[in-house]
Amino acid sequence: MLEMLKNLLPTAATEAAHQWDQLFWFLIAVSVAFFLIVMIPLVVFIFKYRKRVGRRPTPIAHNDTIEILWTAIPSVILMGIFAWGWIVYKDLMMGAPSNSMEIKVMAQKWNWTFQYPDGRTTSNELFVPVDIPIKLLITSKSSDVLHSFYVPNFRIKKDAVPGMYNIAWFNSNIVGQHIVFCAEYCGAGHSQMRAKVVVLDPERWDSWQWGKEIDLPEWVGFGGMKLASNSTATSSTKTEANGSLAQNTQVHADLLIKQGEKVFQSKGCIACHSATSDSIGPSYQGLFESNVLLADGRQVVADENYIRESIENPMAKIRKGFENRVMPPYPGQLSDEEFDALVAYIKSNR
Ligand code: CUA
Repeated sequence: MLEMLKNLLPTAATEAAHQWDQLFWFLIAVSVAFFLIVMIPLVVFIFKYRKRVGRRPTPIAHNDTIEILWTAIPSVILMGIFAWGWIVYKDLMMGAPSNSMEIKVMAQKWNWTFQYPDGRTTSNELFVPVDIPIKLLITSKSSDVLHSFYVPNFRIKKDAVPGMYNIAWFNSNIVGQHIVFCAEYCGAGHSQMRAKVVVLDPERWDSWQWGKEIDLPEWVGFGGMKLASNSTATSSTKTEANGSLAQNTQVHADLLIKQGEKVFQSKGCIACHSATSDSIGPSYQGLFESNVLLADGRQVVADENYIRESIENPMAKIRKGFENRVMPPYPGQLSDEEFDALVAYIKSNR
C-alpha cells in the first residue's frame, strides 16, 4: 500500500526531494484524517438524530471547551506545518553550498543550453556528476519569453526570465537520466521543450569531461516518460583541452573577465566608475555579494541581478550618497554575452 502511494510521485533523486515528499505525505495524512473526523460523525448523526414523531430539538447556545479545542488544535498543527515547511525550504532559499559547481542555463524558444565552468556548452542535455552540489544560474535570452526549468525528480522548478538570473541548486544521489520540462507556457513548441539531466558516476563523468564516448545510464522513473535519445554521448572536446580540466576552467574564467573589462572600457562605464574608490559613480571594488545601503534606506545584497538591474535601469536602486547623480540606462544596448562578461568582471573585483 505504502509502496503504491510512493509510486504516485516521481522518483526522489535528491535528499531535498525526500524531505519534500515526507512533508507532502504528512499534509495528505492530516487532510484525510480531518476529512474522516468531520465526515464520519456527520453521517452517523444524520441517521441517529433523524426526524421522528414526537422528537423535539434541544437548542445549544454555546460550548467554550469545544470552541477552544477546535481553534487551538488546528492552530498548533498549522504552526507545525509552517515550521516543517520552513526547515525544508530554508536549504533551498539559502542558496547553493559554496563548493557547488556553477552551470549557466539559457532558455530560448524552444530549447535549453547549458554552459559549464570550463566554457563548453551542451544543448538539451545537462551532464553532472553524482553527489556534487550543482548551482544553476538560469536565464532566458533577452529577446525571448518566459520559460521555467522543471526537474520533477529533483522537485526543483525555477523560472527563466529574460534579463534576470534565477538560482536553483540540487545534489543528485541517483545516477541516471532525469527528465526536464518547461513549466511555463511559451508558445507553439512549449510541450516539446524538454531536456534531461544526466547524472554520471565519477568514472563516466571523468570520461565525459575528457571528450571520450560514454554509455548513458538508465532513465530514472517518471511515469515511463523518456526522450527519444542516443544510448551514448560524447562531450565536445575543447581545442585547448591539452591542459587539465581545472586549467581549462581557469582559462575560461580569465577570458570572461578580460572580455568584461573590455566591455567596461568600450561602453564608457570607466568614465564614472572606478575599482579603487567612489568617483562620479560608486566603486565596484568588493561590491559583489556585499550589502548595499540604498538612498531610500533599504539594504540589498549586490548579486548578479542587482548588478544587471543597476546597468539596465540605474534609477531603480540608487545607492546612498548618489541621489543626485544620473546614470544613463542601458537597456538593449548590451547583449546577454556582454552582460555575463561584465558581471564576471565585477565579481572578480572582490
Ligand atoms: Cu519554454 Cu514552455
